[in-house]
Amino acid sequence: MSQSDTPVLTLDGPGGAGKGTLASALAAELGWFLLDSGALYRLVGLIALREGLNPDEPDDCDIARERARRLDLHFMPDTGAGQRVLLAGEDVTDLIRTDAISDAASKWAVQPAIRSALLERQRDFAVAPGLIADGRDMGTVIFPDAGLKIYVTASAEERAQRRFDQLSATGVDASLSRIYREILDRDARDASRAVAPLKPAADAHVIDTTGETVAASLERVRGLVREKGWL
Ligand code: DC
Repeated sequence: MSQSDTPVLTLDGPGGAGKGTLASALAAELGWFLLDSGALYRLVGLIALREGLNPDEPDDCDIARERARRLDLHFMPDTGAGQRVLLAGEDVTDLIRTDAISDAASKWAVQPAIRSALLERQRDFAVAPGLIADGRDMGTVIFPDAGLKIYVTASAEERAQRRFDQLSATGVDASLSRIYREILDRDARDASRAVAPLKPAADAHVIDTTGETVAASLERVRGLVREKGWL
């Protein structure tokens, strides 16, 4: 099967809308590969922080672009439906989920040079038997010919509450109002950038998960996958 024949399902939407959970559950159910494209931007953010690179400095942008092109990245299956992220063999799965890296990733993701450096890397993940691609621009830019495009959204209040519950469950003393403000900032930055802004593809199915359980959202997505004859 050539790359262009490989079935691709794109799941785009803002952070915290639940697409990561849906993407990994579907990938496990279908036995398809999973591309967590946000992890690539997070790795660039991590490398840039470690090397003290500043997105406002053109020379630093050139260095970051080279790092993005040569990203030594591996996704490894984890327990359940999750996967671990390795950067040059180092397990950075938890490190790249910290707020500092979320912030750095979002700042580097607005850079056109970084986005184009990661473009082909992302397309290379489309291999048989199929790919679930999770991100912001999977259906609009990276896989415009995907067989099924889904845009997953939820209110900012609900996304903040979910993040707060997640942090509280792991014993982190978080502030709901601060998380809410950060989500609004990040949404604004992702939606207003010049290259690949966050928006549903014209042919995407929009699913709003506000007030809905993961099981209910998953069932809705499954319905679309069944209609495609993929399940
Ligand atoms: O989905 P995430 O929170 O792990 O993404 C991290 C950052 O990368 C976030 O600011 C959005 C950005 N991103 C992007 O610009 N394009 C993608 N396809 C995926 C993520």
